[in-house]
Amino acid sequence: MAVGRRPTGSGRSAPPPRRFARGAAETPAGTGPARTTALCNTAVANRDATVFDAPGEMRLDRSPNPRLAFGAGAHVCPGQELARAELQTVLHVLVRRLPSLELAAPAADLRRLEGLAVGGLGEVPVRW
Ligand code: HEM
Repeated sequence: MAVGRRPTGSGRSAPPPRRFARGAAETPAGTGPARTTALCNTAVANRDATVFDAPGEMRLDRSPNPRLAFGAGAHVCPGQELARAELQTVLHVLVRRLPSLELAAPAADLRRLEGLAVGGLGEVPVRW
């Protein structure tokens, strides 16, 4: 399908990638008319059981790992190497300095933020 791109503001706020189809758009759910806007739910795509073994498990050694966290194609995130470096540094320092770091509440009690393009948890109580 021929696609265009709707402006999404700054990439840093990471809204879900969205595209509009110039022609009829074939999707696994059926055919959408021309000029259909499609939102990519990357959280769902990254847990696609037809692509990933045990998609609900965090496996740091997945290989290959065709996840879409940073998008794909012409508009793939140009900041992904910086984001990876920042996260690796933060996580490395955190576990080295606070090796006894653990949740201070049952994981099942953590409150998810709903209704945002970028998800997360309301608060994460910890102790060490
Ligand atoms: C964990 C952190 C990050 C995530 C999950 C993320 C995710 C994404 C995703 C999914 C896209 C594609 C959007 C689309 O296809 O419409 C994107 C685009 C983009 N990201 Fe990131 N990003 C992150 C960090 C960063 C950083 C650190 C920078 C800059 C320093 C950055 C700059 C951009 C820019 C400029 C675009 C637009 C690229 C284009 O339209 O061609 N991102 N990002």
